[in-house]
Amino acid sequence: MNRVSIIRGFTKFGSSNSIASLLPSTFNTHKNGKKLLCQRTGFRTSFIEGYQFLVVQIRGIADDKQTETKYDKLPNPSDLAHFRSSSSPPVKKDDKEKDNPPIGMYAMPHPIWSEDQLHNVEITHKVPEGIIDKLAYKTVQILRSAFDLFSGFKHGETNEKKWINRICFLETVAGVPGMVAAMMRHMRSLRRMQRDQGWIHTLLEEAENERMHLLTALQLKQPSLLFRLCVIGSQGFFVTWFGISYILSPKYCHRFVGYLEEEAVKTYTNCLKDIEQGNMQHWKTQPAPDVAIRYWKLQPDATMKDVILAIRADEAHHRVVNHCLASLRKDDFNPYKPGH
Ligand SMILES: [Fe+2]
Ligand SMILES: [Fe+2]
Repeated sequence: MNRVSIIRGFTKFGSSNSIASLLPSTFNTHKNGKKLLCQRTGFRTSFIEGYQFLVVQIRGIADDKQTETKYDKLPNPSDLAHFRSSSSPPVKKDDKEKDNPPIGMYAMPHPIWSEDQLHNVEITHKVPEGIIDKLAYKTVQILRSAFDLFSGFKHGETNEKKWINRICFLETVAGVPGMVAAMMRHMRSLRRMQRDQGWIHTLLEEAENERMHLLTALQLKQPSLLFRLCVIGSQGFFVTWFGISYILSPKYCHRFVGYLEEEAVKTYTNCLKDIEQGNMQHWKTQPAPDVAIRYWKLQPDATMKDVILAIRADEAHHRVVNHCLASLRKDDFNPYKPGH
């Protein structure tokens, strides 16, 4: 224990009696693991010791002040919407919506398409090479046929309800692979204590982009209870199946997504045909939802047709990215930078 008396030091200094008199006659303090005992009288000490003590005290006061200020800035958890208990006053729906930031505010970087890019998307097909590619292609063909059969999309004429249902359901599925693959790569990086070679961000961007397609479509129609149950069931199956498949063969999974995106481009091209000369011509003039204008940086007077063009360009991008990742080895660098 260091015993420090500052009084004589201040007395020697000749001007600090008044300060010393303000101190309590005996007090203890801990600073930097040292316990300092200060007494107003009874010890001989040097001015340096007194000065050191004073510095310690002033720093302590400053630290306390800083800590108080820091804590002052922290919000009270009970004031945060997601910590409110049921005993708190209920939040009115209008207030909740007013407080919530708009959808897409936290979006990751993603490509913004030029007019040329939007209108020059083509239906393409990568010819399967080898058993894994053929297996991936066959899986997509089977899933597509099964979905068309059970959704009844091809029976009778298309309409807005059919399109929205189809888009919503497909996007709930399309958002899965990027997230699962990103998680697998993330865990692999942690497990092996090696860098990921830049794949994770692209996969997360893809997952978010698909989810934004879904959130945009949901601005037009809220799904029924039956639809929601189907989504829950399909997600349970698809996450499990895709996760296991990714452990067994990432190449198969990225090729599978590449072929899935080939189908997505076909779907949105058919939607655009329906907008041009079919039953969806009102989407040529129907205003785009705000979320779509913000997310794709569309013109303020953009229409639903512009939204579908942007979504189709996204799908074409996922198509080329996943075919590329399927052709790379696990430890190759991802050539796609964030937002590209
Ligand atoms: Fe999509
Ligand atoms: Fe996609």
